[in-house]
Amino acid sequence: MGSAVGAASDDTSPPWGDTVLVEFEDGIAWVRLNRPDKRNAMNPRLNEEMVRTLDALEHDERCRVLVLTGAGEAWTAGMDLQEYFRDVDATGDLALQNRVRRDAAQWQWRRLSTYPKPTIAMVNGWCFGGAFTPLVACDLAIADEDARFGLSEINWGIPPGGVVSRALAAVVPQRDALYHIMTGETFDGRAAARMRLVNEAVAAADLHERTRELAARLAAMNPVVLRAAKIGYKLAAEMPWDQAEDYLYAKLEQSQFLDPEQGRSQGLEQFLDAKSFRPGLGHYTRD
Ligand code: COA
Repeated sequence: MGSAVGAASDDTSPPWGDTVLVEFEDGIAWVRLNRPDKRNAMNPRLNEEMVRTLDALEHDERCRVLVLTGAGEAWTAGMDLQEYFRDVDATGDLALQNRVRRDAAQWQWRRLSTYPKPTIAMVNGWCFGGAFTPLVACDLAIADEDARFGLSEINWGIPPGGVVSRALAAVVPQRDALYHIMTGETFDGRAAARMRLVNEAVAAADLHERTRELAARLAAMNPVVLRAAKIGYKLAAEMPWDQAEDYLYAKLEQSQFLDPEQGRSQGLEQFLDAKSFRPGLGHYTRD
């Protein structure tokens, strides 16, 4: 497995293929972190490849929904302690340190948390430390009920870094977050679902199918409206109420303006005139 920082790729080849694999299936892009021998620990090369993968998939019509998962027995064991920390520290090169940190942040939350397409984390195994950032940044998450989660930083002498604690605060109640931050005690997928770190936990045998089912449902929906809905939710959460109201109305009007299928008009027409559907009970019929 390569470990070079910033390896080049030519213009015709996709950015994935080494530390990241992508498979397409009926509008779903299955994005797999691919360093199974290292439990998919995120080294500078993987982070850089993921930045370019997210950029490429944004423009790729085969991707209507992105599923983030891991090869082998891990989702990801967090930041690569050797290549992301020790090797970069050893260079004494602050510019390099800034760059590798920027790449990590870029895909793990800056791009991912407001990605224009729906995202689902499919947590298939070990999920530690830095892994919590892309986990929370994904819109939805489904875990193997026996997947093992841990905020292990305290176990080796550091507090959680990056935006791990900030990400946790966005989804997990304070008692659960601080318990695991302060003790380093691991927990399974069932507990992750109880504390709302993931939407649900399912048996390993059902994980792929349940994720595929959810992704297929999102892939069949109006992409312009989905984008406005998810980004509107995430950004409004950080705003005062009066700003949020104005912003969310602007988001609604933006989605009407950009929506080529005019979902709002169709929905109103089907409910009020044709009486062919009820929005409380299902989705309007897309032309
Ligand atoms: N950084 C760098 N290397 C890692 C890694 C990480 N975060 N997690 C695993 N690896 C490497 C191991 O060093 C080992 O490499 P080697 O085969 O060259 O010796 C390989 O991956 C397999 O790891 P191993 O510990 O043997 O696997 P395991 O299945 O017994 O245990 C874990 C899996 C995830 C419990 C264990 O690897 C672990 O504790 N990893 C660190 C998790 C962590 O604290 N992450 C927070 C980082 S922010």
